[in-house]
Amino acid sequence: MNLTQRDRKFLGRESAPEDIQVARMTGSFVYDARGRRYIDFLSGWCVGNFGWSNRDIRPKARRRPDYVYPEYLYRPWVELAELLAEISPGKLQKCFRATGGSEAVEIALQIAMAATGRRKFVSLEGSYHGNTIATVSIGSTEEQEPYPNLLSNCLKISPPLDARAAARLERLLKRKDVAAFIMEPISCNLAVLIPEQEFMETAQDLCRRNGALFIADEVACGFGRTGRLFASEHFGLEPDILCMGKAITGGFAPMGANHRHAESRARRRRRSWFLSNLRMAPVVCRCGHRHGAVADPERNETAESRRGHQCVSPRSSRGDGLRPIGRGPRTRNGHRR
Ligand SMILES: Cc1ncc(COP(=O)(O)O)c(C=O)c1O
Repeated sequence: MNLTQRDRKFLGRESAPEDIQVARMTGSFVYDARGRRYIDFLSGWCVGNFGWSNRDIRPKARRRPDYVYPEYLYRPWVELAELLAEISPGKLQKCFRATGGSEAVEIALQIAMAATGRRKFVSLEGSYHGNTIATVSIGSTEEQEPYPNLLSNCLKISPPLDARAAARLERLLKRKDVAAFIMEPISCNLAVLIPEQEFMETAQDLCRRNGALFIADEVACGFGRTGRLFASEHFGLEPDILCMGKAITGGFAPMGANHRHAESRARRRRRSWFLSNLRMAPVVCRCGHRHGAVADPERNETAESRRGHQCVSPRSSRGDGLRPIGRGPRTRNGHRR
């Protein structure tokens, strides 16, 4: 059996793999097993924002210990949490450790329920927030079809995000039974949907007035993806919770986090329990810290635009043998995100 046949036989996937056998990756390039070089416009779907094998991050990844039990005190966790609080928008302060983006969103939803004592959520129709039961529930209605009995009480507003969408949001929130409104501030999963500034201001204000939390899912659009460190910054948004993942470690290993507002509105009313034994493993924690430092707001815009420039340099358009690969991941109904 060749590799493709073994892949088909042993690996659970939603669709057939791309026609490229990856051998290594550096910067914006992917090399196949025959040494051919490709431009990677996909960048792991928002994971490789700082380029693959980034030398600023790599050496830190190799130090010990391999594992620390989450209930112990461990300096790099505290330092990373402090750094994330420093670089994230608004008054976000408390960091919750997660093993990836889906778990970061999952924890955010649990925090919102515990903080408000409510169980409803509002999200954007067609959105994607992860692959757990709760994150699928707040995502695209289409994606939920194969799973009966998902979280009930997940309400949706439809793009475009304008005055009409704001009016619908107001109708849903004014019943004062919604725990949180969640959205990607710039939605990578809705073909880069950019909301109107007025919508964002109104949405934040509506959440505040009606006791719902505003959760910004920046798992995909965070860490420099949109030209600012966090997409919330484009709108002056001060979310109550901000979810991070993907580029936080640049692909060295999975890690997620979310940051919660320090003030009373987001204070937990009930005790909550977010135990996971592999969260923020030391090796990824150090990468996360490195990324956070590399991605500081001063340097971020230039880093991202430099990389963009590299991807579309005249060299590649002259036809020097580089072949762009990378279509967005497919949703369950076969569409590309
Ligand atoms: C906006 C958003 N949130 C959450 C997730 C889930 O992240 P992960 O794949 O790390 O679980 C994704 C993944 O594509 C995403 O795009």
